[in-house]
Amino acid sequence: MKEVTLLKQAYFPFVPEHRQKKRRYHNSDANKLFAQDRAFHQWYRFVLSFPPHLVQEYIEKFQLRDGDVLLDPFCGTGTTLVEAKKFCLQSIGVEANKMTHFAATIKCHWTIDPDQFIAESKKIAMLAEKKIRSCKKIQTLSDEQMELLLENSISPMPLHKTLILLELIDATQTQFTGHQRLALATSTVRYSSNLHFGPEVGVTREKKQDSDVVTDWLTTIDMFVRDLREIPIRDKTIQKKKLRTEVIWGDSRYLGDCLQNYEPHSITAVFTSPPYPNEKDYTRTTRLESVLLGFLRNKLELRQMKQGLIRSNSRNIYKNDNDDHFIDSYSEVKKIAETIETKRIAMGKTSGFEKMYHKVVLQYFGGMTCHLQSLKPFLKKGAMLGYVVGDQASFLQVYIPTGKILADIAVQLGYKLIAIDPFRTRFATATKMNMNEEVVVLQWNG
Ligand SMILES: C[S@@+](CC[C@H](N)C(=O)[O-])C[C@H]1O[C@@H](n2cnc3c(N)ncnc32)[C@H](O)[C@@H]1O
Repeated sequence: MKEVTLLKQAYFPFVPEHRQKKRRYHNSDANKLFAQDRAFHQWYRFVLSFPPHLVQEYIEKFQLRDGDVLLDPFCGTGTTLVEAKKFCLQSIGVEANKMTHFAATIKCHWTIDPDQFIAESKKIAMLAEKKIRSCKKIQTLSDEQMELLLENSISPMPLHKTLILLELIDATQTQFTGHQRLALATSTVRYSSNLHFGPEVGVTREKKQDSDVVTDWLTTIDMFVRDLREIPIRDKTIQKKKLRTEVIWGDSRYLGDCLQNYEPHSITAVFTSPPYPNEKDYTRTTRLESVLLGFLRNKLELRQMKQGLIRSNSRNIYKNDNDDHFIDSYSEVKKIAETIETKRIAMGKTSGFEKMYHKVVLQYFGGMTCHLQSLKPFLKKGAMLGYVVGDQASFLQVYIPTGKILADIAVQLGYKLIAIDPFRTRFATATKMNMNEEVVVLQWNG
């Protein structure tokens, strides 16, 4: 691998100087959002987001500069894209979950006027307070929508107030509407809901019977405004360089469909974190705000969204799934799947989900193979790629070395393996093992 040299100050005028030095951090801090990195990232994050400092590290290692195009094919809440923007780099994100696609889009939209934004939001807040005081009928969601939520995600009174506020935001339809909706998603989850994340999403025992929804929303808007006020200089540089950030709603197993507007060989680097093969249901983490903002209206839409995701847990495996045929020649994956299934039978585990475990492994690595294959035509010769993945043992404690398998698959597809860099370790209580999270670094030489 090329020796790591830091970019010159000129290439990232807005990244504080102390961030440009080689970083060392403790394992326990590795996944944290550092205080100096909060701007724009704090608008909306989820437990599955990786930290901005990791993206910074690889932008530096890959020596990205003016004219380079950075792709995050599993962009989630847009951490890579926001960092690319801070480094004045062009970037593209692909994301299949409508809620996180929306959040990433808004987090990269910095050209609204902060003073007007707060003034318009205060007007809506006043109307909302008035309507909340006068409204006698408690607003709620439809039964179909309610069925999608984790039970008791939000108590009736905060929900009532949130829906009144949302209706008024949507009725105005201004250039600020997207930001106001995202601020409502963030403030609802943070201040009004009964949800906790640790790392699984769950419902707290102590329910919030009421909350000051409108004030909390304005506090969140204020936080957006503080970040927006800092950017006039950044923005000028970005505009001068005609920087583009595009967030595409699509399925990264089929990048030919997602990147139709991009020339072949136009992507210089990839930095991303795909789902890991474990029992995390990515749509549950974002369920409350997805339903509130209308991205999920019924079970059919939920199913359709799940079908657009890499199969990574037993709740999104379907009868017609056939990504496994992409890994017909990878015996290691098949061996792991067989070990899981044999163990399940030996343990007498017969639930529908447990019967899916071995299928998840086959579909997961098949889907990732399909993704890596569909990416190739878009990569520039010499393109550098970083995939952040974690080893797993969620399926009956059978160990899955995710990074190593992904690296083997990539090599068979013609990528060059540069390194598997350690990122952090996590202690898994179920297995009493330290599980590695790593960055698989690849290069595409055409
Ligand atoms: C680990 S998260 C990425 C988090 C992101 N790095 C961040 O900082 O927010 C993986 C993301 O991949 C998305 N995803 C899963 N399958 C996908 C697919 N086939 N195409 C596009 N996105 C997908 C999930 O919805 C999830 O947001």
